[in-house]
Amino acid sequence: MKAAISYLLFGLLCLMISNAQAVEKIMIELDFTPNLEDGKTTFGICARCHLPEAWGNSDGTYPQLAGQHVNVLMKQLLAIRNGTRHSALMYPFVQQRTIGGYQELSNVVAYISTLPMNPAHSKGPWKEASKEYGRGKKIYQEYCSSCHGDNGQGNNELAYPKLQGQHFQYMSQQLARIKRGAREVHPGMMAVIKDLDLQQLDEAVNYASYFVVPKESLATSKTWRNPDFK
Ligand code: HEC
Ligand code: HEC
Repeated sequence: MKAAISYLLFGLLCLMISNAQAVEKIMIELDFTPNLEDGKTTFGICARCHLPEAWGNSDGTYPQLAGQHVNVLMKQLLAIRNGTRHSALMYPFVQQRTIGGYQELSNVVAYISTLPMNPAHSKGPWKEASKEYGRGKKIYQEYCSSCHGDNGQGNNELAYPKLQGQHFQYMSQQLARIKRGAREVHPGMMAVIKDLDLQQLDEAVNYASYFVVPKESLATSKTWRNPDFK
């Protein structure tokens, strides 16, 4: 935990913001020292939906946010805030007037990234011995692991999400949304999504849902409750 926090203190937040009018994306680097105490306070707003543990749920309506890379959280937060990623539900809660500017955003993402992860996230329907699992493994290794990592660990610096520990349904729904053009992601991933059909994408994230999350990132039990919100 200590290492994670000191990393965050000296970490750079690199992200892309796209202006609704402009075609070009602007890359900016933020260099804030996150304040975890203030992040906890801001997270009180998020916890109304994401709950104090930020563990997400099995029907895919909420993602597991706990333990996600700071740059990933920041990039998604900004995309939702400026409307490039559409979420009617979350949009009003993440505006400047509701939660503040970049400092507040960096506080809250730093706080979320230090939360222990759900030790019982939901997995896909196809177990290891099935042919779907085997096909998914092949697809994942060929098309996805270059960015999301061999074990779905993602990449903080490049803002590639950690898929390890993410709920299967959430991933499946996001891919379907991306496939039908309702969510835009990294061009490298858009290209891959074009080449694969929904069944293949589901098989790939089925495989990803079985990645083992390192023990030190997990909460001690599935009944763990975030003591900051008792
Ligand atoms: C009114 C409910 C609501 C509130 C309040 C809310 N969220 Fe969300 N959030 C959602 C929903 C629903 C999604 C899933 C969006 C989708 O399906 O695309 C989401 C998605 C996200 C994501 C994207 C995660 C990913 O892996 O793709 C991040 C990051 C996030 N929320 C952070 C926050 C933070 C930080 C706050 C508080 C400042 C917050 N949310 C407040 C409902 C909410
Ligand atoms: C070129 C790099 C790249 C490749 C290849 C790639 N992705 Fe992604 N993926 C990303 C990035 C970056 C995001 C975050 C969304 C964004 O672009 O803002 C993402 C988002 C996702 C999400 C949504 C996660 C969330 O929390 O919202 C899922 C699920 C996903 N990718 C699965 C896959 C699968 C499955 C494959 C292979 C079939 C794949 N990706 C290939 C870079 C990549």
